[in-house]
Amino acid sequence: MAISRTISRQDLLEPVHRLPREQFAHLPTPLEEAPRLREALGPGAPRLLIKRDDQTGLAFGGNKVRHLEFRLADIRARGADTLTIKNAAVSNHARLHTALAARYGLRSVILKVPSAKDHPVNGNLLLGRLMGAEVIDASSDDPDVLDREYQEMLDRLEREGHSVYDTVNDPFSTIAGTCAYLIGAVELLEQLDTLGVKPDHIFLVSGASAAGLVLAGKLLGESWRVHAVNIGDQVDPVNLVLDFANRTAEHLGFDVQITTDDFDASTEYGQPGYALPSDATLEAIRLAAQTEALIFDPVYTGKSFSAVMGEMRKGNISRDDTVLFIHTGGTPNPFSYSDELLSAL
Ligand SMILES: Cc1ncc(COP(=O)(O)O)c(C=O)c1O
Repeated sequence: MAISRTISRQDLLEPVHRLPREQFAHLPTPLEEAPRLREALGPGAPRLLIKRDDQTGLAFGGNKVRHLEFRLADIRARGADTLTIKNAAVSNHARLHTALAARYGLRSVILKVPSAKDHPVNGNLLLGRLMGAEVIDASSDDPDVLDREYQEMLDRLEREGHSVYDTVNDPFSTIAGTCAYLIGAVELLEQLDTLGVKPDHIFLVSGASAAGLVLAGKLLGESWRVHAVNIGDQVDPVNLVLDFANRTAEHLGFDVQITTDDFDASTEYGQPGYALPSDATLEAIRLAAQTEALIFDPVYTGKSFSAVMGEMRKGNISRDDTVLFIHTGGTPNPFSYSDELLSAL
């Protein structure tokens, strides 16, 4: 049933604070204006605020560090000693789970999905190896093969006597990020209060974090519109956000139903596909770097920022609007794309 009234920030946080959490992220992350980037986008550009969730600490940071605070507590409560991950070489998720494992004495085992970015070993994959991940090469990127090989990996680890935390499929693991971004939303609102600003639009990569901002916005009655930008690998980007948001609401006991009316989930900025930057992605990365020394990446944030530019050029955002962009991280990824980035200069 949809809620008929909004709740206070305190009521939003109360059930989240009851969840076990180990705090190690560098919070609050800065909220910064980007005046030179605004100017570079032309006279119709909106006011731009950047939430620096690339600065959360832990091995180059990123949005997932917020999630890991909840996941670590859950891992410890269950007595797990091994984290399993199924991701590509450019995955920030794999790098950050390996960082968590290194820092808290766990083992990280990655089934690496084959991609064009496997060689040479650099960026996130290099950092993962450096921090001690066991990396197993999957034989194909076919989803059925990956599922089978991931299951074989889980079975092998259990036979070897490890207690495994399956970050890919565990029901709480998959909503930890949405819970974390309810706290992130209140952190953001407090910063916005200080500035005296109400953003009209929030742009970020689609997923668990975006679902947290959608859910928080609806429960608190905020007027912002969340644009959950698909970066090319989510078969059904709308249901992805709905699933995270509604499972989290249920888990925390909120009487609310998130529907497709509550957010935008554009797929056009994910083209031509996961880990494949378009010209617009490269333009976004170049402009942000050259005007604000903001490092976006070709897989995630270059695409989510290209959505801000695209929606502005379509006339869906005006110079009287305020756009809040969540920089969700991915900072090691430009090192895996030197050819593409250099050719865009
Ligand atoms: C840089 C970056 N931004 C956003 C996301 C989306 O993450 P989530 O679904 O956890 O919000 C990812 C996921 O890998 C990411 O690496």
